[in-house]
Amino acid sequence: MQCEIPLFLTIVWLLTKYHANAASPVFSGLPTSVSVGELEVIDRLIYTLTVADADGDPYNCDVSLTVPTNAPFRVQKATDTDLFGVYTFNPSPGNTMFDYATTTLYTVEVRCIDSNSNARSANLSIDVQDNNLLEFTNLAATVSQNAATTGDNTEIFDVSYSDALGLTVTFAMTSLPATTSFTIDASTGKIKTARELRFETYTTIVLYVTVKDGKISVTDKLTVQLTNVNNVPYYTNLPASISINEDTAAGTLLYTLTAYDGDAGATLTYAMNVDPAADSGKFTFNTNTLQLSLTNGQTFDYETRTYYNVTFTVYDTMATGGPFVLDVNINNINEPCYFDRSYYYASFSEATAGSVTYNPGFVISDYDGASTYTLSFRTGNNSQRFSIDSSSGIVTFAVNYDIDGNAMPSNVILTVECSDPSSNTGTAILDITITDVNDNAPTFAQSSYTLTVDQYTSAGTLIGTITPTDADFGTNADFACSGSTSSGTAGTYYSIGSDCGVYLLSSPSGQLSYGTISRFTITAVDNGSPAMTGTTYVDIIYRETTTTTVTTTTTTQAYNFWDDAGAVAAFAIAMILACVVLAVLLYMLIRCCYTGACCGPESFDFCNCCKRRPGLGHREYKDFPQSSSPRLTPTDIEVGYRPVTRLIPTRGPLAVTYY
Ligand SMILES: *[C@@H]1O[C@H](CO)[C@@H](O)[C@H](O)[C@H]1NC(C)=O
Ligand SMILES: *[C@@H]1O[C@H](CO)[C@@H](O)[C@H](O)[C@H]1NC(C)=O
Ligand SMILES: *[C@@H]1O[C@H](CO)[C@@H](O)[C@H](O)[C@H]1NC(C)=O
Repeated sequence: MQCEIPLFLTIVWLLTKYHANAASPVFSGLPTSVSVGELEVIDRLIYTLTVADADGDPYNCDVSLTVPTNAPFRVQKATDTDLFGVYTFNPSPGNTMFDYATTTLYTVEVRCIDSNSNARSANLSIDVQDNNLLEFTNLAATVSQNAATTGDNTEIFDVSYSDALGLTVTFAMTSLPATTSFTIDASTGKIKTARELRFETYTTIVLYVTVKDGKISVTDKLTVQLTNVNNVPYYTNLPASISINEDTAAGTLLYTLTAYDGDAGATLTYAMNVDPAADSGKFTFNTNTLQLSLTNGQTFDYETRTYYNVTFTVYDTMATGGPFVLDVNINNINEPCYFDRSYYYASFSEATAGSVTYNPGFVISDYDGASTYTLSFRTGNNSQRFSIDSSSGIVTFAVNYDIDGNAMPSNVILTVECSDPSSNTGTAILDITITDVNDNAPTFAQSSYTLTVDQYTSAGTLIGTITPTDADFGTNADFACSGSTSSGTAGTYYSIGSDCGVYLLSSPSGQLSYGTISRFTITAVDNGSPAMTGTTYVDIIYRETTTTTVTTTTTTQAYNFWDDAGAVAAFAIAMILACVVLAVLLYMLIRCCYTGACCGPESFDFCNCCKRRPGLGHREYKDFPQSSSPRLTPTDIEVGYRPVTRLIPTRGPLAVTYY
C-alpha cells in the first residue's frame, strides 16, 4: 500500500507531462471523395486540407501512401494561403496523367506530423472522370480598380471556363483578406462589387474562385488591386497603458488621444467603449478635445477593480479605425483607517491611575482591507491624564483623577487616532464624563469650637452654627449633623440640629453653675454611598453676664476672644512688650535733652531744641563756614532769628533751618 501512492502519483505525472503536447493534428472533412478529369494535364489543386493542431504545434503534411502505388498526386503548401492541398502531379506537363480504362479510383493517404512527431493520417478517394476536363480559361488573373470611384454593383471581372463534358457549372468565391466588397454570380461567374469600394480598406485582395460541374471542382485566383484606397483613421498614441491612483479626484484628466487620418480634410467621429460596461459611467470621453477623464462624482477603488479595458474607435464616414485599447490600471493607495462612528461617549468614575477600565467599543475599518491598527490619543485637552490600550482601545486613567473641588474637569473631549502600518491615520472624538465618587468626608475647619450662653439666653436660641465643608459634588457633598454629649445633663439644655446649628433647649439658669462647660461631639454624615463622616467638638460655656443689658448671642459662628486662653495670654505679652519699648524711648529722650549726646558725637538739632537756655539764644557750630552761606535777602529772615546753613562737607547743602 505504501508504495502504491508514489506509483500512482508517478503515473499521473507522466500522463500530465506527456499529455502536454500529445495532440496530433486533426483533419476536418476527411475521409472524403473528390474527382479529377481524365484529360487533366497540369498540376492542379483538387482538394484543400483543413488541419488543426490542438497544441498549436507547427506541422507538415505529405502523401504517406497511395493505392495503387505511385499515383500522380502530391501534397503542397500554397504560399499565399499557407494551406496544404492535394494537387495532381504531372512530371511531364502537357501529357495526360490518367487513363480511365486502366484506373478509375485512387486512394491517397494524407499524413500530417507535428513538431512533436505526433502524426495523423486520413484517406482521400479520387475518382477519375472519364474523358472530362474542367478548367478556367481566364484565371489566374489580376485586375485593378479605383477604390475612390468604383460604385456598388459594378462588374469587375467575368470568369470564363471550359468543361469537356459541357456540364452545367456553378461558381463560388472566397477572399483573402476577408472582405464584403465583392460577390460572384453563382451561375454566370460575373464578379461585381457588393458596395462602393471607397469603403474598402485593403489595397490587394485575392479572390479564390471555384467552378464545379457537379463532378469536378477547380479553384483559381483573381487578384484585385485597388488604387486610391481610403486611409483608415487611427490614434497615434494607442494602444497604450496608463496607471491611475485610486484616490484620483473626480474630473481628473486621465489621457489625451491624438487621432490621424491620411486623407486630408477627413471628417472624423470618435467613440469610446469601456469593459466592464457597467463601469462606463466612470469615464468621460470628450470627443472635441479627445480627453479622457474620471467622470465628476466618480471614484476608482483598487479594492473593487484594478483594471479597465477602455477602447476607442475613430470613423471617417467610410471606415472605422480600431478598436484601439487603452489599458487603465488602478494603483492601490494606502487609505486611512476609519472609525464606524465619529463620536463616542464614555462615562466612568474618578479614580486612581489604572484602577478603572472602560471600553468605548471602537470599530475600525480600512478601505485597504483587514489590517492591524494602533490606537492613541492625540495630544491636547489633558489627554496625558488618560491612557488607551493601543490594540483593544480600552481607556483608563494615567493619573489619579480627581474632580473634587474642580481639581480636574468632569468632562473631557479627546481625539482618538487609529494608525495603520503605513502610519495613515483616522480619528474620532471620545467624549468622557468623569462622575464623582464620595471620597471626601465632611470636614470641620477646627478640631473644637467654643460657644457661650448666659442666664439671659432664651430657650430656642440658635447659639451658633458649626458647618463642615465637603469637597465632593452633588448629593455626595450634602450632609446632616447630629450631636452627642457625655457631659452629665448637658443634653437637657443644649442640642445639635441636623443643620449643624447649636441650640439652647432650655435655660440652665439656676440649674448649672456659672462656668460650667458642656462638651458635645458634632458628627456630620454625608449622603454619599458609602457615607463619610466628619467630627468635631463644641464646648458650650454657661457664664454670668453682669450688665443689665440683655445681649443676644449672634447666630454667626460665635467666637469670643476673651474666652480663648491662648489669645488672652498673647495679648498680655504684647502689652508688656509695648510698655518696655515706651520706657526705653522716654529714657533716651530725656537723656538726649540733658546731655546732647543721645545721637552720637554730633548731636542733631532736635536734640538742641530742649537745650536752649536763657541768654544763649542759639548755639554756633564750628563747622559752619559763614562765607559759604547762601545769600539771603532780609525778607527771608524771620525777625529775631538768623539763618544757619548746616553743611555736610562731602554731600553739599542738606537743609536750611530758621531760628
Ligand atoms: C487508407 O486506405 C488504405 C487502403 O484501403 C488502407 O490500407 C489504409 O489503412 C487507409 N488509411 C487510413 C488512415 O484509413
Ligand atoms: C480589451 O478590449 C479589446 C477590444 O475588445 C480586446 O481585444 C482586448 O483583448 C481586451 N483586453 C483585455 C486585457 O481584456
Ligand atoms: C479639545 O476639545 C475641543 C472641544 O472642547 C475639541 O474641539 C478639540 O478637538 C479637542 N482637541 C483634541 C486634540 O482632542
